[in-house]
Amino acid sequence: IKKTTTTKIQSMKGRGCIVSLTAYTKPMAQMMDSYVDLIIVGDSTGMVAYGFDSTLPVTLDMMIAHGAAVVRGVEKSCVIVDMPFGTYQESKEVAYKNASRVLIETGAQGIKIEGGLEMVETVEFLVKRGIPVMPHIGLRPQHANSLGGFKAQGRDKQATKLLIDEAKEFEKAGAFSLLVEGVFENAAKQVTESVSIPTIGIGASPECDGQVLVTEDMLGLFSDYTPKFAKKYVDLSSTIKEVFAEYEREVRNGVFPADEHCFGVKKRT
Ligand code: KIV
Ligand code: NA
Repeated sequence: IKKTTTTKIQSMKGRGCIVSLTAYTKPMAQMMDSYVDLIIVGDSTGMVAYGFDSTLPVTLDMMIAHGAAVVRGVEKSCVIVDMPFGTYQESKEVAYKNASRVLIETGAQGIKIEGGLEMVETVEFLVKRGIPVMPHIGLRPQHANSLGGFKAQGRDKQATKLLIDEAKEFEKAGAFSLLVEGVFENAAKQVTESVSIPTIGIGASPECDGQVLVTEDMLGLFSDYTPKFAKKYVDLSSTIKEVFAEYEREVRNGVFPADEHCFGVKKRT
């Protein structure tokens, strides 16, 4: 099976063609591999799996452990890993050092960083030295402290122009695609039309070239924080709780384990 490359993702420009989801573990990655083009190992794992109330406490080692697990579950999809807060902003050299560790230690094909124009130089530095980068613009959860919380971006003309400038600069810097989060439809449309690299949207309308969702949101496995754009396709947490309840009943009533689950037992009468 041929692995989807970042170059292939870059070539998939055109409304709605790229399918993406997040994953943090091997089994989840394995289940989605046939259906998606791109798997993003998001630092949302800090909120979804670790119970942090933001993504800021996530470390590089955590992202590397999750990235490596996901890569082990994937045959076909392109895998990219989020760089956590504090591992790429200081300088382009520090960003290179940490991003190269991510690629070497996980086997992923690229990285994602959050940022605006201040990150353009870093993106160019990484790309020129062999690290494919997907910049994440619009609502940037790592910047919640300075953006005044989790708020949709690109509300007016000026904000839209800033997003377009960022997109164009990142394209020039060599980014293979853009993650566009929490952006008004009109702004998402203009950003997508302004660049020849694909935009992958989350809460950014159908105007983007692809869509991504946080897998636990769409499966109903995480509800501490549910943004408007997180469509819940199924409520798996209810199903899982029913199974736990059944297990509890069986153990308390001596129904489990049965003969077939035991060693050295023929047939109990
Ligand atoms: O951390 C995350 O899950 C993300 C998604 C928007 C892809 O950044
Ligand atoms: Na993220």
